[in-house]
Amino acid sequence: MAQVLISPVPKILSHFRFILTLRSEEGKYHSLILFRLSPSPSLVYQESDNGVGRKVESDALGSASNRQIYVMEATCPHLGAEMSHADIEEYEDSVVAVCPWHRYDFDLKTGKSETGLRTCTYAVQIKTDQGTGDEQVWMEAPDGGRNWRVVELRPVSEEFADPPPLLKRASADSGDGHVAPQEELEPIVPEKNPPKTLMEWAVLILNTPNPTLKVERTRYAVNAFRTGAITSIGHKAAHPPVPPAKPSREAYMKIVQPGKIQSGKRKNRAVMLHALANIEQWAIDLAWDIMARFGPMHKDLPPAFFSDFTKMALDESKHFSLLRARLSAFSTPYGSLPVHASLWDSATLTSRSLLSRLAIIHLVHEARGLDVNPKTIEKFRKAGDKDSVDVMEVIHADEVTHVTAGHRWFVWMCEKQRQWDGSDMDPIQVFRDEVRRCWRGDIKGPFNIEDREKAGLSKEFYEDLKGEMPFDNDEDEVRSTGKNTTSSLRTDGAVNVKSVQQEPTTRVEYES
Ligand code: FES
Repeated sequence: MAQVLISPVPKILSHFRFILTLRSEEGKYHSLILFRLSPSPSLVYQESDNGVGRKVESDALGSASNRQIYVMEATCPHLGAEMSHADIEEYEDSVVAVCPWHRYDFDLKTGKSETGLRTCTYAVQIKTDQGTGDEQVWMEAPDGGRNWRVVELRPVSEEFADPPPLLKRASADSGDGHVAPQEELEPIVPEKNPPKTLMEWAVLILNTPNPTLKVERTRYAVNAFRTGAITSIGHKAAHPPVPPAKPSREAYMKIVQPGKIQSGKRKNRAVMLHALANIEQWAIDLAWDIMARFGPMHKDLPPAFFSDFTKMALDESKHFSLLRARLSAFSTPYGSLPVHASLWDSATLTSRSLLSRLAIIHLVHEARGLDVNPKTIEKFRKAGDKDSVDVMEVIHADEVTHVTAGHRWFVWMCEKQRQWDGSDMDPIQVFRDEVRRCWRGDIKGPFNIEDREKAGLSKEFYEDLKGEMPFDNDEDEVRSTGKNTTSSLRTDGAVNVKSVQQEPTTRVEYES
C-alpha cells in the first residue's frame, strides 16, 4: 500500500485539527482533515530551537493507537460542508465526526454514516525513522494519483480561523488605530432584511464601506457558513443579488491614482504597513466578489469553491486586522494616508470571465506576493521589527494557500470546459493566453520558485510571459477568448472598463 509522509509527530501536537492538502505528481490536489484526539495527559512536548519540538517525557507515550490520529475527506459527502468544524463524538467502540450542517455522523475509521452515506478515511500509521529515531506520521495514499506529497499542513486555528460568531462588538473603537474610533457602526447583522444566503452576505459585505464592520461581517458570515447557520449558498437562485461594480469605501479614504503614490522606494515602515493594509482590504472584497459575481454565472460550481473563497475572505480580514494593529504602533491610523485601487482595476478588467479573474488576481497578483513577501519580511527583520515580521510570516503562509486555491479552480474550470465542448484546455496554455490578453507588460521575476511550485505554479506557467494588452486600451471590457465564457455569461453584474493602468500591487518597498 502506497503511503504519504504527513509530518514528524511533534509537529501535530500543537493543535487537534489540521487542514491537510496533498498534491500528486500529475498536479492533482486532495484536501483532507486530520483529527488528533486527546493524547495521554502526561504526554509533553517542548518547543525546540528549530521550532519542531522535542519529546520531554516519553514513558507515557503509549502505542500509536493511543494517539488517535484520523484522516478523512475535508468536505462532507452530503452537501459539501467543511468537516474542519465537525463535532467529534467518542463512543465505546467508535469515534464519529458530526457534520456541522445537517448533523450526519461519519465513523472516523470506516467513513460510514448511519444515513447510508460514506466518506473516505485513510489509515494512519506512526513509524520510526531508522536513521534519526524520530517518529513520523504516515497515511495511506489516496487513489487517483501518483507520488502524493503534502503541500500544506495548517492548524485549524482557534485564534483566527474560526472566531466565535460576533453578535455584538465591545465598543465602536477597535482600539487598533482606526481612523474614526468614535463612529457609530451599524449592527453586524442588519436589523432590516438580514441576509439569508451566502450570496446575500457577500453582496452586503461588498457594500459595507467601514473596514471594521467589513471585517466583523466577514467573520460572522464565514462562521455562520461553516457551522450551518447559513444553510444556502444561493448562487442557483433565479434572481441572485448583484454585486456592486466597485466595493464601497468610507468618505475619509483618499483614493488616488497609483502614480500619485510614491512608488518604488517607500520611506518608512508605517507607509509600507499602510500600503499592505490597503491591499488586504481590497483582497477581502475580491474574495467575496469572486463568489457573488461568478457563482451565479457558473451554477455548477460545487460547495468546495465557496469553502475555499470564504476561507480566503476570512484570512484577508485577519491580515487586515493584524496590519492595522501594527499601524497603531506607528501612530498611523488606517485611512490617514492616500491609497490606490489598482487591484480593483484588475478585478474590473476580469469581471466577465472566471478564468480571467482566477488567472490575473490569484495567479498573477497573489503569486507575485509570494515572490515579494520574503524580501519584505527580511527588511522588517533588519529593522528589528519582530512584530511586523510575525505578521508578514502569517500572511505569507496563508497566501501560498490562496494561490493554491486559485490554481485548483483554474484547473477545474479548464477541465469543465474540456468536458463541455471537447476543446483543448491545457491549463498552462490557457493561463498564458489569459495573461497575454488581460495583462500589460512582463510577468516579472525574480520568482519564488519553491513557493509557487507548492501552489501548483510550475515555471511553464509564468516564465518568459508578457501581457499584450495595449497601454491605451479603450475597449469597453476585455473581450473573452470565447473558450472560457460559454457557460451562461451573465451581463447584469459585469462592469465597463476604460483604460486601466496596471501596477503590481505587492511591489512595495521601504527604506529601513
Ligand atoms: S450533513 Fe454534511 S452537508 Fe449535510
